[in-house]
Amino acid sequence: MNNLLKGKRGIIFGALDENSIAWKVALKAHEQGAVFTLTNAPVALRLGEINKLAEKCNAIVIPADATLVEDLDKLIAQSVEHLGGKLDFVLHSIGMSPNVRKGKSYTDVNYDWMAKTYDISAFSLHKILQSCMKQDAINEWGSVVALSFIAAQKAFPGYGDMADAKATLESIVRSFGYYYGNAKKVRVNSISQSPTMTTAGSGIKGFDSFFGFADKMSPLGNASADACANYCVTLFSDLTRYVTMQNLYHDGGFSNIGVSEILMNELGAEK
Ligand code: NAI
Repeated sequence: MNNLLKGKRGIIFGALDENSIAWKVALKAHEQGAVFTLTNAPVALRLGEINKLAEKCNAIVIPADATLVEDLDKLIAQSVEHLGGKLDFVLHSIGMSPNVRKGKSYTDVNYDWMAKTYDISAFSLHKILQSCMKQDAINEWGSVVALSFIAAQKAFPGYGDMADAKATLESIVRSFGYYYGNAKKVRVNSISQSPTMTTAGSGIKGFDSFFGFADKMSPLGNASADACANYCVTLFSDLTRYVTMQNLYHDGGFSNIGVSEILMNELGAEK
């Protein structure tokens, strides 16, 4: 541990169980000296797992549905009070599509559910940022990180309306990043992560095959949740102060590859 986050305060959204990316981020942030509150939707908290993490990280858990501004306002105010000062980092690690979960194909979506997909997976970031800005809850050079996926740029059958939500999420990163940077020098970025074995990930149709495909396409292989947590720590730290409004690929090179030899060989390509 190098105390990269010593003295920093934050809020971590989205730790459901020990596979969650947010779970790993909490462990690493704690290791690096940060203090933070943990939050998740009341229904997710009922599963009880997050309390184990809270104990390990010496953190309190504050329930909040990230689609409800009232919940977010309270969560942010309580976090600042409990942690004893303004925040330095926020992790948005939230995603869910009722259409994907219920097996609705992209060309046959239920539009009420699609609105929910956007609300949970994209607009929640706007709501968190707007609430933080109104309460002036983030210190100068503070860092907000959201998790995204490359389906925001390229077509991935099976990812359904989450692709549209991720494109919106990345747009909010840019737009809010401009306003928050200008007003308060607060940074906003997204990390576009490799497919990762988590509850959200495995809800995608054909996820296991896609996981293997991406692993074989990427020269470095898929990035793990643990590696993603390390990257988040660097973005929360003071070593990345001038990085903002970016979508940053953390994917072992997947986003920039056309085809890999390993897959060509498996398809029977001539040597
Ligand atoms: P996860 O299922 O562990 O985390 C998703 C979290 O969203 C859960 O903790 C869930 O309770 C929370 N959530 C859902 N609705 C909510 C609401 N209304 N209010 C507050 N929280 C709510 O799965 P994972 O993979 O750790 O997901 C975290 C983020 O990483 C998501 O944004 C996901 O799209 C993104 N991501 C995941 C990849 C993967 O393959 N697993 C790849 C790239 C990005």
